[in-house]
Amino acid sequence: METLRNGTQVVWFDPKLLNVPPDMCFEAPYWLVQNKVTGSAKGRGTTWFVQLDGLQAALRHYRRGGLFGKLVKDQYWFSGWENTRSYQEYQLLQHLREKGVNVPRPIAAQADKFGPFYSADLLSERIPNAKDLVDTLQQAPLSAEVYYSIGQQIHKLHQAQVNHTDLNIHNLLLDIENKVWIIDFDKCYEQSGDDWKQGNLERLKRSFHKEVKRFAIHWQESDWHSLLSGYHST
Ligand SMILES: Nc1ncnc2c1ncn2[C@@H]1O[C@H](COP(=O)(O)OP(=O)(O)O)[C@@H](O)[C@H]1O
Ligand SMILES: [Mg+2]
Repeated sequence: METLRNGTQVVWFDPKLLNVPPDMCFEAPYWLVQNKVTGSAKGRGTTWFVQLDGLQAALRHYRRGGLFGKLVKDQYWFSGWENTRSYQEYQLLQHLREKGVNVPRPIAAQADKFGPFYSADLLSERIPNAKDLVDTLQQAPLSAEVYYSIGQQIHKLHQAQVNHTDLNIHNLLLDIENKVWIIDFDKCYEQSGDDWKQGNLERLKRSFHKEVKRFAIHWQESDWHSLLSGYHST
């Protein structure tokens, strides 16, 4: 990882993956004028998919949720460059890659400080031909084998001692080979011990229940047992 300081902005990036000026790559218009926006997805805000040399990237601007977020949309209190959301997520993705967990490779992160606040962005590898579990399950149910490998992947995440504080089925992707990917590590962190792990699983289970009601996803209680047997298999 290299670091670039540019006025009020600090950029961290992987020079092997980033082939454009590091200080420009977080601006959606930069990609738009070059015709390099290949798609987008809606989460809290818009995630833009952009074309790099030989790989695609997902560009996300950090936004607050909840009521406070309606007032202060994308500003965070600054308490040091290494405490910024973007730097933290970059590091966590790097850590998880090293542990062999299926997460996007981090490409670049930035924080821009103004007064006591900062705003932040992250560019990470776009998982090719992947759909999140909500999309997938709206079309059709998944086999017990796929649930089993979802459970295994979450177990790997937990073996790396990473608490995914927003583990829900929007943040789990499946590619065309049914490989499982975990995304969206904003506000997640490394934590020792085991007592928090059950909480991640419970949140995920609530998410299945919620989307059965909201999006009529194809899901049943026995799918959860397949997932758990994958989780407990290794
Ligand atoms: N690396 C990625 N590869 C493929 N799709 C992605 C990737 N990152 C995000 N997406 C898509 O964009 C959506 C929103 O991104 P996410 O990182 O979850 O941000 P948030 O939920 O904070 O808006 C995801 O649910 C997913 O559909
Ligand atoms: Mg998300």
